[in-house]
Parts: sequence; structure tokens; C-alpha cells
Amino acid sequence: MRKFPRKGGIIMKITIGCDHGALALKDSVKEVLTALGAEIDDVGTFTEDSVDYPDIAEKVCAAVREGRAERGVVLCGTGIGISMAANKIRGIRCALCGDVYSARMARAHNDANVLALGGRVLGPGLAGDIVRAFFTQDFEGGRHARRVGKIMALEEK
Ligand code: RB5
Repeated sequence: MRKFPRKGGIIMKITIGCDHGALALKDSVKEVLTALGAEIDDVGTFTEDSVDYPDIAEKVCAAVREGRAERGVVLCGTGIGISMAANKIRGIRCALCGDVYSARMARAHNDANVLALGGRVLGPGLAGDIVRAFFTQDFEGGRHARRVGKIMALEEK
């Protein structure tokens, strides 16, 4: 088990995947995650051939759901489609983040377990800051745990 620099930020494995709209951003995000000390499993895609983002979301989220990864990162052109797909999967709380504050709050208040990013929206600098915020912030629990519990209960309705 490796520790991220920030207190309490312990990450063992992160699964990442993108469609053809986010290849370059996925590579730069992997560099940031590696620098943070993460073990990364990249489920693709690896070429610019067109692929369907729900298939990528399914692969990444299966790893998180089954405990093979502690958290996931999914990327498509906007991050919208792949985050929508991810949030259809039981047990997944995927947050599409385009700013650092949202990334921090997605962890602190929503206990997000998957981060979504838009490869045609974000540059590598901002994306790196978002990734660092997301992966070094702990869930605050307390009243937020009750609310997250209510989110998860919606899966049964
Ligand atoms: C693919 O062209 C594009 O639709 C996809 O990457 C994503 O932006 C969908 O939400």
C-alpha cells in the first residue's frame, strides 16, 4: 500500500479508461497519478479509432465495484457521456469535474469513487490540479455520510 503525500490519502490502485476523445489527457493524467504514487491499470482505449464510451465506463467501474481498484478515472471528449454511463453502474458515484473546488468537494462531501474528465475541455495543467485535489481529499463523513447513503438507496427504488 502506498500513501499519497496528503495525510490520510491512501490509494492502492486506480483504474483509468478513455474513449478516442481523451487519449492525450489520459496520458497526462497517468503521469500525475504515477507521481502521486498510484498503481494504475489502464483499460484503454489506446488508439484514435472510434470506440463507445459506455464500454469504457463499464470496464473501469467494474474494477471499482469489484474492489480490484479503489477508485477510477474515466475520460471522454466532454466527460459527460462517460460520467452518465458510469453513474448507471451500481455502487458508482462518478463526478465530472472541470474545476479544483468541485474535485475537492466531490470527495469531501459526496465520497465520489470515480472522477470523470473531458479531454476536449481541459488542458493538462488544470486537469492535473483537479486530479491532485480529487485524489488527496478525504471524505468528511458525518452528515455527508447520511446523504451519500440516501444516494445509494436510490439504486433500490
Ligand atoms: C465522441 O465523439 C464524444 O461524443 C465523446 O467523447 C463524449 O464527448 C461524449 O460525451
